[in-house]
Amino acid sequence: MAAQLNVTFAGLRFDNPFLLASAPPTESDSNIIRAFDAGWGGVVTKTIGLHPVVNVYGPKTKFLRSTPDSPQLSMKKRPGTALHSSWNWELISDKPLDWWVPRIARIKAAHPHRILVASIMAGSGSDEELGHWQTLTRACQDEGADAVELNLSCPHMDRQDMGSNIGKDTAQISIVAQAVKEVAKVPIWAKLTPSTTDIVVEARGAFLGGADVVSSSNTFPSLPPIDPDTLDFEMNVDGFVSSGGLGGPAILPLSMAKMSQMTQAFPGRAFSGIGGVAEFAHALNYFLLGCGTVQVCTAAMLDQAIGPNVIRQLKQGMADAMEKYGWSSLDDFRGLRRDRVVTHSKIRRPDDKAYHGGFEAEGYATTL
Ligand SMILES: Cc1cc2nc3c(=O)[nH]c(=O)nc-3n(C[C@H](O)[C@H](O)[C@H](O)COP(=O)(O)O)c2cc1C
Repeated sequence: MAAQLNVTFAGLRFDNPFLLASAPPTESDSNIIRAFDAGWGGVVTKTIGLHPVVNVYGPKTKFLRSTPDSPQLSMKKRPGTALHSSWNWELISDKPLDWWVPRIARIKAAHPHRILVASIMAGSGSDEELGHWQTLTRACQDEGADAVELNLSCPHMDRQDMGSNIGKDTAQISIVAQAVKEVAKVPIWAKLTPSTTDIVVEARGAFLGGADVVSSSNTFPSLPPIDPDTLDFEMNVDGFVSSGGLGGPAILPLSMAKMSQMTQAFPGRAFSGIGGVAEFAHALNYFLLGCGTVQVCTAAMLDQAIGPNVIRQLKQGMADAMEKYGWSSLDDFRGLRRDRVVTHSKIRRPDDKAYHGGFEAEGYATTL
């Protein structure tokens, strides 16, 4: 019997729990239709705003690669390297809402049973800005989008009331989610930034505001390395750089740590795991921590722009794992390892009595 890859996640039925994340693979209707043809269970559109944006001059994304026989880590193209990460400073979609509206309808007409999540972004500094979130939500759901994902995590915004600057402020997160909730007829996904001290605080703000799903992680704020031969950043415009976002293999363990905190704090809530997924073994990490879907960006960018081989492997890998372990659906393994993440002092020692969690018995800390 064929494995049951379909899942119901936050009220939506997916053919399989794998989505393309909001990014270049989902920047157009033609890409998204190709992605659905290739078998992706869902797609999150490139983030849609009300106004056009202008990206930096030159490339917006590059890939950091390591070499097996030296410690070199560089964006320079050279043979025999392994992917370490992606680095980007790309803004949201350079096409405004008006461009997207007919295309959302076209995508849904071509693939009515696949899940289309519209990623949206606006400011939060005034009632007018909050109204923009509502305009975007109404427009996308009216054209057939199955959910909206609030981009509270873009790391490239100068404005204090946009992108990851909202995602660092639990009050702003709740206010935006509430504004969207007032008009939303579809589930609300909140995509949080990993760039905070305790992401449980921001997740709580999202759920209190009315979000149905938390997605994480967006890219991690970072800089490209400096070339020792030129003393220039490996990616720059006129010698200048600004903080960009790291994605791909390097962030899988970092993003898992953030996700683990949230799934433990809110075991009954829905989470979509993102970061460093290129094959099923990677996705399995997020499922075992408690996620109900997983999203992919960097690996798909490097596989014919929309990841036909990646989705084939994800689906086959999931079917193989289900057969191997005798699981009949994702519910059989979702969260199986969530509670294996414990405080350090709960990890067994050679002599359990000899360690006291670093408190007074060790002589260098006291309980507050
Ligand atoms: C070039 C590029 C553009 C991106 N644009 C967006 C975006 O518009 N909205 C968004 O929510 N995330 C955006 N992301 C973040 C991805 O959706 C994803 O969260 C991140 O890359 C981590 O996943 P990965 O390790 O599979 O790449 C972008 C990532 C890249 C590399």
